[in-house]
Amino acid sequence: MSDFELDKGGANHQKPEGKDDVMTTAQGAPVADDQNWLKGGPRGPSLLEDHIAREKIFHFDHERIPERVVHARGYGVHGTFELTNPIPELTCASILASEKGKKTPVFARFSTVAGSKGSPDLARDVRGFAVKFYTDEGNWDIVGNNIPVFFIQDAIKFPDLIHAAKPAPDRDFPQAQTAHDNFWDFVSLSPESMNMIMWIMSDRTIPRSLRFMEGFGVHTFRLVNEKGEAKFVKFHWKPKQGVQSVVWNEALKINGMDPDFHRRDMWAAIDSGDFPQWDLGVQVFDEDYAEKFEFDVLDATKIIPEEDVPVQIVGTMTLDANVENFFAETEQVAFCTQNIVRGIDFTEDPLLQGRNFSYLDTQTKRLGGPNFTHIPINAPKCPVRHFQQDGHMAMQNPKGRANYEPNSWGGDTGVERGPRGCPVNGFTSYAAPMGATKIRERSETFADHYSQARQFYISQTDIEQTHMADALVFELSKVGRNDIRQRMVGHLLHIDKGLAQDVADGIGLKELPAKPPAARKPITDLPE
Ligand code: HEM
Repeated sequence: MSDFELDKGGANHQKPEGKDDVMTTAQGAPVADDQNWLKGGPRGPSLLEDHIAREKIFHFDHERIPERVVHARGYGVHGTFELTNPIPELTCASILASEKGKKTPVFARFSTVAGSKGSPDLARDVRGFAVKFYTDEGNWDIVGNNIPVFFIQDAIKFPDLIHAAKPAPDRDFPQAQTAHDNFWDFVSLSPESMNMIMWIMSDRTIPRSLRFMEGFGVHTFRLVNEKGEAKFVKFHWKPKQGVQSVVWNEALKINGMDPDFHRRDMWAAIDSGDFPQWDLGVQVFDEDYAEKFEFDVLDATKIIPEEDVPVQIVGTMTLDANVENFFAETEQVAFCTQNIVRGIDFTEDPLLQGRNFSYLDTQTKRLGGPNFTHIPINAPKCPVRHFQQDGHMAMQNPKGRANYEPNSWGGDTGVERGPRGCPVNGFTSYAAPMGATKIRERSETFADHYSQARQFYISQTDIEQTHMADALVFELSKVGRNDIRQRMVGHLLHIDKGLAQDVADGIGLKELPAKPPAARKPITDLPE
């Protein structure tokens, strides 16, 4: 590998040796001319025989892989997480329980959700905030957003949400008959979305820079300590730079002038040594405390108020290195909510449970098979030992030892028996009580869709509230069907009468719709 070099992300690069470097094929054979296809005479047909031309075109034809089905546009950066306040009493995960000052490499990718890979950075949209920690006990991913709640409570609704928000399949732009009808039709029929709607109509969804955003793990997870005791936890990223947004007018102009505004800002900050930092915080509470909330902590449309459960800072992430190979690192990184380590566990949040299936499934397609953990950006930086083998691009088959279990190799047989599970240091699922009747239904404890939406709205300053009303007017004025607009204003009446009135006035509703009954479940019984 004389003229290949391994970078921080583990990608191989062709590096120049000198001005007289000789071009080769991908097989390493020197090439005389790759600018003229072999022909039958100077004006004759191009010959299929030209293996140099065919190799060049063949490789070009395969340069693209499917973009992510959501969060297609993103920007990745390397960094380090430093533990500042260890919490061994809460978790046995070494990244959080070791001595103060322990450092763990990370890779973070920030993204928009709905736009395609080439869409502008300043769209009004949620921002993905995904962090992969290469811990010494395996990779742990917090696959979060810059907003602490989500649109839906159950993962089975995710394809519907995304179909409504993304380009319509017939015309490839995200509108129905006249304009924004699909998205607003969906959310106005899904009252569980109302808290998230308040957040996405706020300035949070037009951040000034990726460096000035908070991040949230959204779901309630579990921390489990060495004794096997568990507590609930929510993860928070607090930017040391503060939280800043642009205003809508600026966002529109920036999108037109520089659609790469956010990625350029991140790249330039890191390139100039101005490294952004975030504190990682945890909100920790036990099952008894969870019972006291009026909402369900398994419902991802709800926050745990920080006044009730303060955020406890455990460490700091510093992002300090740009990628060297965007495709190998940012494009091929695979975050997954099911990547957890011993000491951290899932809860029964039905959105989280569905995500745990979805990411691995989609990445197996996007990255061409089951071996994408062999790609350096996804590979753990600790030993990996298992009995998996083969498949597309397999680079790490078991060698010199058994490749199945149970086996009776080892000892004096002359063959290594291979790895064994370890009940002491291995991952064991928290023994959460189960036992229930199989049922396809939403829990009644998930039914209050308006209280937190109202709390968020009234927590905003006057000018922020005005921005939210303006955003709703802008968006709903793009909705062609009047019944959808009215349904949305009906929901707003449950959140804040003044807001509902401002929006109704802004979109020209002659009178407010009657306040609908508090819609606690998806609205499916509309008259034809
Ligand atoms: C991608 C966050 C809900 C399916 C992503 C990414 C983030 C994210 C940050 C981009 C990761 C990257 O940078 O590569 C969230 C959050 C959710 C949520 C915070 C709710 C709390 C869901 C649900 C599903 C889902 C409910 C499906 C049931 C996907 C898929 C991708 C993705 C398929 C593409 C992954 C890939 O191709 O690598 N999500 N998501 N997400 N999400 Fe989610």
